[in-house]
Amino acid sequence: MLVVLKRDYEEVSREAARIVASAVRSKPDIVLGLATGSTPLGLYKELIALYREGSLDFSRATSFNLDEYLGLAPSHPQSYHHFMEQNLFSQVNFPRERAHVPDGTIRGGYDDYCARYEQCIKAAGGIDLQVLGIGRNGHIGFNEPTSSLASRTRLKALSRETIEDNRHVFSNDAEMPKCAITMGIGTILDSKRVLILASGRSKAAAVAKAIEGPITSSVSASALQMHPDVTFIIDEEAAYSLTQRDYYRHVLEMTRLFTPERLD
Ligand code: PGA
Repeated sequence: MLVVLKRDYEEVSREAARIVASAVRSKPDIVLGLATGSTPLGLYKELIALYREGSLDFSRATSFNLDEYLGLAPSHPQSYHHFMEQNLFSQVNFPRERAHVPDGTIRGGYDDYCARYEQCIKAAGGIDLQVLGIGRNGHIGFNEPTSSLASRTRLKALSRETIEDNRHVFSNDAEMPKCAITMGIGTILDSKRVLILASGRSKAAAVAKAIEGPITSSVSASALQMHPDVTFIIDEEAAYSLTQRDYYRHVLEMTRLFTPERLD
């Protein structure tokens, strides 16, 4: 696990964009795993800027989003379809027919639908680079605490904490979805590389548990300790509760010296 410590959210976003852009340039037909939420917004802004200046081309890329709220149509302003359209797809040359977001409007046949989403990822050759945020409760995607570390894409009931974190963007409580379709932890662990971003003190406890705590289904992100190629990019506030910050800086310095390609 590489832990990259940055000063603030802007630096986290720029570093993440540097890595994603470099991955797209070296493999134009890349399969990206994409995330929503406030954390990756800065990354998407940076990618849009690179596209506008002509140094990034998504025309051959494919993407799979982690999750979508159950019951929200793509046109709903709080749906993740809408989020992706607004904050990335409409602003770059991403081919819509290869930009996949789970369908929140399905009614019934959830297991079959989720199995097809998994199949679609497989048919595309698997995810080359998965972008993740982390919830205050340590979730990745909507894999809430106690999700199986081997879970696949499925219908998942949201935790009270997640519902509370997201309630403010919905006009009333009844509108706030209680379930989502989400890739599983097993799905995420199958991706070839993982980039996980965190910013702000509210994430510090989850980040420390994910990086330095035991692997446990109580903290879904701790499963990333079993993945061979994970890069955490976190700002000072999110790194607040880590006990080995000096060691992570040393590891980064040695990586720069001996295996700089790991930082691309
Ligand atoms: P956030 O959400 O980026 O809006 O903080 C992260 C998450 O819940 O995964």
